[in-house]
Amino acid sequence: MLKKLHLLTLVVLVTVSSVSAQKMIGNETDAQKDKRMEWWKNDRFGMFIHWGLYSGAARHEWVKHNEKIDNAGYQKYFDQFNPDLFQPQKWAAEAKAAGMKYAVLTTKHHEGFCLFDSKYTDYKAPNTKAKRDLVREYVNAFRAQGLKVGFYYSLLDWHHPDYTIDEIHPQSPADQSDASYAKLNKGRDMAKYRQYMRNQITELLTNYGKIDILWLDFSFPNKNGHGKGKDDWGSVELLKLIRKLQPGIIVDNRLNLEEYKDGADFETPEQVSTAELLKYRGKTWETCQTFSGSWGYYRDENTWKTHRQLLDLLITSTSNGGNLILNVGPTARGEFDYRANNALDSLAHWMHANSNSIYNCTYAPESYKVPEGTKLTYNKATGRLYVQLFTYPKGKLLLPGYNGKIKYAQFLNDHSELLYKTSGDDIEVTLPEKKPDYEIPVIELTLNN
Ligand code: GLC
Repeated sequence: MLKKLHLLTLVVLVTVSSVSAQKMIGNETDAQKDKRMEWWKNDRFGMFIHWGLYSGAARHEWVKHNEKIDNAGYQKYFDQFNPDLFQPQKWAAEAKAAGMKYAVLTTKHHEGFCLFDSKYTDYKAPNTKAKRDLVREYVNAFRAQGLKVGFYYSLLDWHHPDYTIDEIHPQSPADQSDASYAKLNKGRDMAKYRQYMRNQITELLTNYGKIDILWLDFSFPNKNGHGKGKDDWGSVELLKLIRKLQPGIIVDNRLNLEEYKDGADFETPEQVSTAELLKYRGKTWETCQTFSGSWGYYRDENTWKTHRQLLDLLITSTSNGGNLILNVGPTARGEFDYRANNALDSLAHWMHANSNSIYNCTYAPESYKVPEGTKLTYNKATGRLYVQLFTYPKGKLLLPGYNGKIKYAQFLNDHSELLYKTSGDDIEVTLPEKKPDYEIPVIELTLNN
């Protein structure tokens, strides 16, 4: 008893101290936050869209950095930009068909070019051959499909004259000496750039109606003193402004506000393996992943993920309680490349039949052992457990220790009954010899409680 009490005191102390170690920027309660995040956690699957001038170079969205191009050298991509096939209604229809519930578009990437009509720059789509605000058309199209709308906005800006040269700027000095930085940064004023960002984010969050997600990218503090973090961005004030303009908005974790409990709404593990996702259980997160290696359209990049790898990402994210945002990099003409279309079509085929094992689902309680060759997802509200058949077993599937735990079994894709028998503590589900027409078929188990 005494021992138990001590343990309890310890737990309370640890909890209290870890909470008090985290400062707050606003005053939202945990319950209010849960409510605000509810749709996002249930929806599980979104579309990232990286589109900008780099789509024309077609060799990575970091091309300006990778090839150390200056503004004059990059100008040709602006002059050339002419997205004559841009029909965001098509993008939205494809996202919806693939089962994606929300989207996030790069309104400005590191190159500094704005797809929207900003009062604060001439470096924007309306001044290209596009002659119009492309963000507005995206917003209208996705909203019309009932999808939630998000904006990506790059904190970095490799075009703005006041943005100071840092370690990853295309014009970063070869010798990395403080003197070289000082020389290059003479006349540049981050305070002015901060104001520019605040102005643009204000435009984005006031001129387009309700915005569901803001994806700010990214911080790189402590890089030998030539990185950037919360003080450079004015992150605290920026986040306050964002929450004031759009109280319901969901914001990612790249503002470098780790010391604040409410400095971010979700974590963003980028391009991690499915094995790594296990360690995010219990947190609020979204893994961002590309179809190929690059975010922006990269014509000659050929390492495209297979349908199975994409499904694995989606299922494994859900089965560890997180979201997946899959990226498309449209071409400079404004369409999805055929490889992206094929990938989305295959996902649409699977999601049409199996999305109930993704939406509103999370990881299964530990009392359900994971049957061999499968992963589990679980819908608490409906009392359904989903067995994702990564390897299709011959004739039968053993559910270890499931005796007494289930009352019905069926394939999710066609709701066809799967007969089963008990054997000791276990259950043996009889499966047809022929695998259903899905890369990873799903068994839906109705649980006893
Ligand atoms: C990175 C990259 C970037 C991409 C982003 C998406 O931080 O800088 O190009 O937009 O991740 O997660």
